[in-house]
Amino acid sequence: MNTSKQDLILVVDDNPANIKVLFDLLKESCFRVFVAKSGESALEKIEAAPPDLILLDVLMPGMDGFETCHRLKENPKTKDIPVIFMTALAEVADKVKGLKLGAIDYITKPIEHEEALARINVHLELRRTQLRLIQEEKMYSLGQLVAGIAHEINNPVSFIYGNISHAREYVDGLLKLLNIYETVTPHDIPEVQACSKEIDLAFLRQDLPKIISSMEMGASRIMEIVRSLQIFSRSDEAERKAVDVHRGLDSTLMLLSSRLKETADRPAIEVVKEYGQLPVFECYPGPLNQVFMNLLANGIDAIEEKIEGWQDKNPIQASDFIPKITIRTDVNREHASLMIQIADNGAGIPDNIQQKIFEQFFSTKAVGKGTGLGLAIVYQIVAGKHGGTITYQSQVGEGTEFTVTLPLLAAE
Ligand SMILES: Nc1ncnc2c1ncn2[C@@H]1O[C@H](COP(=O)(O)OP(=O)(O)OP(=O)(O)O)[C@@H](O)[C@H]1O
Ligand SMILES: [Mg+2]
Repeated sequence: MNTSKQDLILVVDDNPANIKVLFDLLKESCFRVFVAKSGESALEKIEAAPPDLILLDVLMPGMDGFETCHRLKENPKTKDIPVIFMTALAEVADKVKGLKLGAIDYITKPIEHEEALARINVHLELRRTQLRLIQEEKMYSLGQLVAGIAHEINNPVSFIYGNISHAREYVDGLLKLLNIYETVTPHDIPEVQACSKEIDLAFLRQDLPKIISSMEMGASRIMEIVRSLQIFSRSDEAERKAVDVHRGLDSTLMLLSSRLKETADRPAIEVVKEYGQLPVFECYPGPLNQVFMNLLANGIDAIEEKIEGWQDKNPIQASDFIPKITIRTDVNREHASLMIQIADNGAGIPDNIQQKIFEQFFSTKAVGKGTGLGLAIVYQIVAGKHGGTITYQSQVGEGTEFTVTLPLLAAE
């Protein structure tokens, strides 16, 4: 598995000789490169496959480099892609104009190979850092938000839950008293009869204890959810902490429970837990739960994708399919490591995208459904934060199994 990313660079120039020089230079430096010979064609190609960086010539027939840059910066989808202008040495006004339009830098023609590469690398690195910071900030805010909500709900729901048992006791007492009144007072008092009919006393007596039980169940469920949110976010814990990994997995499953339920298109997703005997594990609990969340959500997506694919062609095949997610955990004493496997029997990952799945913004899901950041975050947390590894095996049509291995005593 290759998790190092080859950046994708778009060269926009109308001059074939220039294109060739740049193309060869970038290919030699192991970038992935594609070219466009006009501004119009560049915009189309960028829409189809957004590059990590654009090298843009200024003088082109039709839409020139400035106009192309202007359009790119106007479009929310492309505005953050770094643009480097290519201008002739003397054209100071062009350089200024390009930078004002939102270009991040310029390189001068004729291209100075070393300098061009150095600038390209600096900007790619800056862009990566920027994306990482944005993502970290987002995750941090989400954690804060979840923890805040959990905290706010926790108090009121505790009142409700705590008082329900008293309410039940009082109701039982009142019903008991009512029974006594009924036996010792005459039955034919018209006001009493009218009222008892009006409130349907017989039904009320039966139903009231049931209502209280279901309120109790509801409140206890909210408390469980709040607890899961708290375990999940763990935003109070920026430090390493010894935790029970299974609790993290279970709280994540709880948050995903509505996605696991039966739907009109498929039966419920069965979750098989094969938990081993794990020692208490020192880790960053919040981020680790984020790893579980992303892997499990991807598994659910893959199962749904497989079923959607069938529905057009083979509804019969779908009928006896049991969607399943298996979670295995184990400890390897010899290697002093902990292993967590999350497997699904979903669509699988086609060979041609296996290299890409850990890349930021790589997604095969519909716009709005996937951002393509899930596995990039997972990789960063597993490898970067915990010094672990993540590998996977996949078979198209059969499913995918991700294996996370974390050293028990990880060095940052
Ligand atoms: N379990 C899986 N089965 C099949 N394909 C998968 C699985 N996990 C990941 N993929 C593929 O890898 C791609 C990248 O996954 P990733 O989690 O990074 O992004 P995403 O799920 O598309 O979006 P999001 O940012 O919302 O998680 C997915 O779009 C999908 O094509
Ligand atoms: Mg995902």
